[in-house]
Amino acid sequence: MTAPREQFGSRLGFILAAAGSAVGIGNLVGFPVNAAKNGGAAFLFIYALFVFLICLPVMMAELAAGRNSQKNPLGTYRFFANGHKLWPIAGWLALITPFMIAVFYGVITLWVLGYLFAILGGNLQELADPDYFGEFINSGQVYALLALIAAIVGVILKFGVKDGIERAAKIMMPSLFVLLLGLVIFVLTLDNAVAGLRFYLIPDFSKIDASVINGAMGQAFFSLSLGMGILITYGSYMNRGASISGSAKLVALTDTAVAFTAGLMILPAIFAFNPDIDTEELSSSSVALIFTFLPKIFLAMEGVAGYTGASAVAAIFFLLVFFAALTSLVSIIEVPVSGVMDQMCYSRKKALLIVGLGIALFALVCALSFGIVEFFTHFLHYGGADKSVFDLVVDVFYDTILPLNGFLICIMVSYRWKKSNFDRELEQGAPDYKGSLLERYTNLALGTFIPVILLLVFINTVLTKFFGVNLI
Ligand code: PHE
Repeated sequence: MTAPREQFGSRLGFILAAAGSAVGIGNLVGFPVNAAKNGGAAFLFIYALFVFLICLPVMMAELAAGRNSQKNPLGTYRFFANGHKLWPIAGWLALITPFMIAVFYGVITLWVLGYLFAILGGNLQELADPDYFGEFINSGQVYALLALIAAIVGVILKFGVKDGIERAAKIMMPSLFVLLLGLVIFVLTLDNAVAGLRFYLIPDFSKIDASVINGAMGQAFFSLSLGMGILITYGSYMNRGASISGSAKLVALTDTAVAFTAGLMILPAIFAFNPDIDTEELSSSSVALIFTFLPKIFLAMEGVAGYTGASAVAAIFFLLVFFAALTSLVSIIEVPVSGVMDQMCYSRKKALLIVGLGIALFALVCALSFGIVEFFTHFLHYGGADKSVFDLVVDVFYDTILPLNGFLICIMVSYRWKKSNFDRELEQGAPDYKGSLLERYTNLALGTFIPVILLLVFINTVLTKFFGVNLI
């Protein structure tokens, strides 16, 4: 006899865990920078439209498919494939994607932790040196940090869905909200903060073009943790009495609110110490911003807060990013863990060990691809540049594949599982869903224009990234 499937303990617990997955580096840094470069509130407006008109139905589809099948993503696709040969391929994709995202996200998370320790050790001054990052990522510290992150995630996941994932989210998410609000209040009291606010909040629609729209779509998709198998897996741990549509709306709202609030912290901070900055100069890479640009901004706070004060603000910021990254990392590693548990009937402990070792091994290869091992550093050449293993993993699994996975889930739910069954699952625990505007909209959109848009975004990204051809 198999043990009953694990479940989240409460609705709030589920919402915090799903929000913990969604709120990550994409919200805290990626969104503010994208907004700053691409028309401020105009970008926010387009982003919010995508979140609610495109991402919310996809999120509901993932959750409903998981709750109905009671399985991991591969098991879910097999369940609905019902013997059809090709659909399980989509299931494999929905397991490999989170595995590979965990690899590069794990590497970034360990850098964040390394910076937090360095600041606590009084080294903010060194971090602000432009050469520090390059030296740090190739230093021996990286191995110890990788082991530490693996241990932290391992302990959380070992305790399972309710006592591990849910409990960690219940501690870390409220702490994250408090730290974020504290930083926003502090930053808004700085001279010149208003210039940043003005820049952020006054819409400039002239900046909006096809590539900005494409970027907003990608950002929204990544930020809500879609196409990664996470919500299928979390759906399978959801209670039948809970409302999928209601919970999904709250998760989308929380994620968007955190992204918006992060903008109220990052932009005024940048403008306060760099009043003449041309936002075009800001790198669109979150990594460059977190690890090379922001430490300089924190150091500049020395003038108003002293070195200790500046270090304290920097430490709070890195702790905030660490919490956000850790809850996301936990959610994404749970996907292959549940895959191994379901498909191979292994215990959680054994599955965790196998998946953990696999991810750590790949993460090590990535960590060695910044110069230490030549072969991994110049691994491939495409899109007009040499690419390391780390670049390749980011390009394929972060930038490209998510809309394809999203497309596949839309088609599977609409045409394989069928809309009437999907509706019935959504009505469970949510009697008010039946006949609602959201139901009518989701039914219309999920099998028609949403997959078309996702497919176009996927094709466009492949052509631009790998072949240097710009369709739009
Ligand atoms: N939503 C996360 C973010 O905004 C993305 C993510 C989720 C990454 C889960 C990894 C794992 O950063």
